[in-house]
Amino acid sequence: MIPLPSDRNSRSTGTSPLRPPPIYAGTASYKLDNMHVADHLHPVINAGRVAVITGAASGIGRAAALEFAKLGLKIAIADVQESKLTALGKELIGQIGEANVLVVPTDVSKIDQVVKLRDRVYEAWGEVAVLMNNAGIGAKGPSWGGLDAWHKVFDVNLFGIVNVQQTFVPSMLHQENQALIINTGSKQGITNPPGNAAYNASKAAVKSLTESLAHELREQPDSNVTAHLFVPGWTYTGLTGANAGKEKPAGAWTAEETVLYMLDHVRSGDFYILVPDNDTKREVDQLRIMWSAADIAEGRPALSRWHPNYKALFEEYMRDGLAQLE
Ligand SMILES: NC(=O)c1ccc[n+]([C@@H]2O[C@H](COP(=O)([O-])OP(=O)(O)OC[C@H]3O[C@@H](n4cnc5c(N)ncnc54)[C@H](O)[C@@H]3O)[C@@H](O)[C@H]2O)c1
Repeated sequence: MIPLPSDRNSRSTGTSPLRPPPIYAGTASYKLDNMHVADHLHPVINAGRVAVITGAASGIGRAAALEFAKLGLKIAIADVQESKLTALGKELIGQIGEANVLVVPTDVSKIDQVVKLRDRVYEAWGEVAVLMNNAGIGAKGPSWGGLDAWHKVFDVNLFGIVNVQQTFVPSMLHQENQALIINTGSKQGITNPPGNAAYNASKAAVKSLTESLAHELREQPDSNVTAHLFVPGWTYTGLTGANAGKEKPAGAWTAEETVLYMLDHVRSGDFYILVPDNDTKREVDQLRIMWSAADIAEGRPALSRWHPNYKALFEEYMRDGLAQLE
């Protein structure tokens, strides 16, 4: 029998890092009504500047394009789904005019297509203010087997972002105006829930890549570019059944809610943008992440949250932790 941490020493009680102070208490009440996105002036997310969004034809990317249009940005939309992309392009042109919209069918896993996207944007507008690396797929791959799915999911979720960073960052560093890069990760890349090893691993790599990007940009002399790791909660999109005509589950946020939350937190300068949903409030995520890190720090088995010997301890930890944070 694997000893429980509480049997071995006192690290998991009292002053343990598993009992964090209430750093973010209050964000659970964050509601759409509290978001006054259009009221704020921000040097980057601002009228006349340029947003590039990959995976823009559906879900979060589409909602982001529509929101940026409302805020008066010029928008380049890229996706592999050409007909949906064209339809969104028409909608955007109706709102902000043809001169302010670029529709560029792009497969982010193909570097030559990403280079074409960059060239189109710089030829048209000469800058990129917001680079949103949002394209993603959820192809399933267990720890062994499903080799094709592993390649596909890494080609899009990780190498899609690597390709875009390699191509756009050098140009963005030459710009005088402030700019930002938003990479889309996932809670699955942080706490690694069982069920889709390939997707989780790709999103863990996105977290690692984006942390490195943020550090390297910070260290770069005269850099005016920041990086942000956007971690959506459960959001009703193509990835989670919206395109199959499924009704929005009560627990999920709409793509618009998730995007508005992201924008508010990018404006605040946050690096980690951990988005709640109707099922999972901020404090629950916070405790789950701390538990996951403590697997390593306390020498517990991998993914102890789902280990039968740790079930009772995890439940107690969540109960106590929430009582303290709320
Ligand atoms: N929906 C959620 O609950 C959730 C949660 C966490 C993270 N995410 C992440 O959010 C991002 C957006 O996903 P979504 O939920 O809006 O799903 P979605 O399926 O509605 O949108 C993803 C878009 O990416 C596009 N895409 C796929 N492969 C591409 C490629 N090679 N090149 C260019 N575009 C490509 C798709 O065509 C689609 O339009 C993804 O990175 C996803 O992993 C979503």
